[in-house]
Amino acid sequence: MTQSANNGTTLVSVCGKGGTGKTAVTAMMTRALVDSRRAGKLLVIDADPALGQLSALGAEVERTMGQVREDIIKTAKGGTDEAKAALADKLEYLVFEALSEKEDFALLAMGRTETLGCYCPVNGLLRGAIGALSESFDTILIDGEAGLEQINRQIVRRLDTLLIISDASARGLETAAVIKNMVEEEKVIECGKLGLVFNRVTGNEDLLRTSADKLGLSVFGLVPQDEALAANDMVGKPITDLPADSPGPAAVRAIVENFLLS
Ligand SMILES: Nc1ncnc2c1ncn2[C@@H]1O[C@H](COP(=O)(O)OP(=O)(O)OP(=O)(O)O)[C@@H](O)[C@H]1O
Ligand SMILES: [Mg+2]
Repeated sequence: MTQSANNGTTLVSVCGKGGTGKTAVTAMMTRALVDSRRAGKLLVIDADPALGQLSALGAEVERTMGQVREDIIKTAKGGTDEAKAALADKLEYLVFEALSEKEDFALLAMGRTETLGCYCPVNGLLRGAIGALSESFDTILIDGEAGLEQINRQIVRRLDTLLIISDASARGLETAAVIKNMVEEEKVIECGKLGLVFNRVTGNEDLLRTSADKLGLSVFGLVPQDEALAANDMVGKPITDLPADSPGPAAVRAIVENFLLS
């Protein structure tokens, strides 16, 4: 990977309206990055509280960051001064506990992080700890939460590439336009490249491209409706098990080649 905004680690995040295929596309990107053997050490972060990425990748984790965070809050609230002092030192270790090493990549699941209410100092510490952990990886791929929240609550401040997923609906494109505005005008997050991916495409390709163009969104690619993918998801089979030449994975591979690895 060439460019990097984070000390040599390439950060890529996937966002967009709910249900447009963020999790499916992230899983297919994971597979394409692993198969390319050009992504170096890869970390996939499931930032969606519902943990959908785990089944898409056919993976499990022992603990989520949300659970780690609750432990930290408990100690910070009820612990002795000694315990509190020890906490800062323990933090990185705790974050590493939530990290799960798979054969070809590592996985970090955020899980639910709001169960004990907002506890901003802890969130800040966690962000720092994830930053430290990310130094061990060459590429980090984040499957985001639906909508705009994840842009506001970014677990990272700078991204190399942001992929916005949209279906062929006006609402999907509206969300994409708002995200683009948050990045480019409001500068909520720093971002090297930003592009749109249409997912579940069944036709009207010219119309989709024209609509994106009108909103000033550059199109990274179109991923067709893939019945094999839908079938895998229906029965809980990993999306990463799909053959590489299935229409979905093939389209995502081209996007990865053209916009992440070139
Ligand atoms: N290219 C595709 N072909 C066929 N089905 C697809 C495709 N992409 C996604 N799907 C299906 O669409 C549904 C939504 O996909 P997915 O869960 O990836 O969306 P999401 O954006 O991550 O949703 P959420 O906002 O809930 O996190 C799933 O049932 C998935 O199987
Ligand atoms: Mg999802």
